[in-house]
Amino acid sequence: MKVILFGATGMVGQGVLLECLRDDTVTHVLSVGRSASGQQHAKLTEIIRDNFLDYSDIESRLAGFDACFFCLGVSSIGMDAERYRHLTYDITLAAAKALARLNPQMTFVYVTGAGTDSTESGRVMWARVKGKTENDLLALPFRAAYMFRPGAIQPLHGVRSKTAWVQAIYVATAPLLSWLSRVAPKYVTTTEQMGRAMIAVARYGYAKPVLESEDINSL
Ligand SMILES: NC(=O)c1ccc[n+]([C@@H]2O[C@H](COP(=O)([O-])OP(=O)(O)OC[C@H]3O[C@@H](n4cnc5c(N)ncnc54)[C@H](OP(=O)(O)O)[C@@H]3O)[C@@H](O)[C@H]2O)c1
Repeated sequence: MKVILFGATGMVGQGVLLECLRDDTVTHVLSVGRSASGQQHAKLTEIIRDNFLDYSDIESRLAGFDACFFCLGVSSIGMDAERYRHLTYDITLAAAKALARLNPQMTFVYVTGAGTDSTESGRVMWARVKGKTENDLLALPFRAAYMFRPGAIQPLHGVRSKTAWVQAIYVATAPLLSWLSRVAPKYVTTTEQMGRAMIAVARYGYAKPVLESEDINSL
């Protein structure tokens, strides 16, 4: 399986990259990001770029892939709605539209979040934007698309958040998260499990397109 990964420098993406590199069924990983992942591996190739809205200059390098794991994303905290929508909706759909055209047999996995608003009409801005993003991704002509909606995510294997305050929270709550992931797996998953589950849905599919933490942990 050949995989394109967006967001490999982030907390979720770092974990997904580690699982892709460990999994023998993943033969090639192409990371597309603003900076290098910091990983060196025979099956890893990286494209570093600033433009995440237009891929016409690298189309030939984005064709021939089986799956895309889209882990690029930002927190809405402290961000105005227009900027959040640009970083969440515009960037994700630009990549997905290009990839659907170049790889109609691709499975696309998007990291969204627990509480996403599929109606696009609720009171919470981030949830509406994520809902619209999910809905429009599900309408694209991929072989399949899956929306991963984790709640809390326990970082494992040295994975760190790019966002300083998120990292501080994870350090402070590490013992609690570790305990919760055992007693309440409905609400907590891990970076390792996110990666394992993405590889699983890309290989075998899943019964429904939207996966909550419980679904992610079952894979
Ligand atoms: N962490 C959690 O607990 C959690 C829980 C539920 C859902 N999620 C969702 O999971 C997704 C990823 O979260 P995360 O915690 O991994 O975030 P993170 O650690 O802050 O990483 C964000 C990733 O997105 C990239 N990125 C951000 N803005 C970009 C831009 N303008 N252009 C190109 N790349 C950009 C970053 O690249 P750079 O390295 O270049 O900055 C980095 O790779 C988000 O959609 C988030 O809502 C996270």
